[in-house]
Amino acid sequence: MKGIIFTEFLELVEQKFGYDVVDKIIEQSDLPSQGAYTTVGTYDFTEMIALLSNLSKHSGLSIDELLYTYAEHFFGVLISNYPDMISKYNDPMELLASIENHIHVEVRKLYPDAELPTFEILEKTDTKLIMIYRSSRAMHSFGLGLMHKTFEHFNSEAEIHLEKLKPDATEVKFSIMKTNEQ
Ligand code: HEM
Repeated sequence: MKGIIFTEFLELVEQKFGYDVVDKIIEQSDLPSQGAYTTVGTYDFTEMIALLSNLSKHSGLSIDELLYTYAEHFFGVLISNYPDMISKYNDPMELLASIENHIHVEVRKLYPDAELPTFEILEKTDTKLIMIYRSSRAMHSFGLGLMHKTFEHFNSEAEIHLEKLKPDATEVKFSIMKTNEQ
């Protein structure tokens, strides 16, 4: 998992919970990296799970709630760091339908070792997009947060329904219905 995912996560934890909590969860997580992340480094996904579990215990929020909140923050990071990838789009449905065959393809060129999910489109109209998320990391709540932020970015709104196709959530069906537009 890319270092930027860790550095921005700890940044958000500091903003929301304070530096003491950052210190505490790093200590409790017993990390091979000892929590010394750089944006360009690559670290084991198990370190993220350890940090999330300890933050979940500390905050009383579930890992899915934490991932959703983290995605809301991370969307801002994407906008500032990769403006050209996002500015190609003027519609949230087009952007989301292009993660698999454009956006994450570009990400893979930048970071060949990126651990990305796949999205298989089952159905697409101007107002409806149904796709299957697949990833061994089961970060569907992170995806959900990014999707809602994508709509907000285009002054639009959507109802997004999730259906776990596997109990461990490594396969999740997203049904996205655009509900308004300015
Ligand atoms: C400019 C737009 C985007 C960029 C540059 C980008 C880049 C990235 C990067 C760098 C990672 C981490 C890879 C790693 O740590 O190895 C990632 C993961 C992920 N991205 Fe994107 N992304 C973008 C848009 C989106 C959008 C709109 C979604 C909406 C669903 C999305 C869904 C995900 C998910 C769910 C993951 C977590 C990894 C997993 O589930 O396996 N991304 N992305």
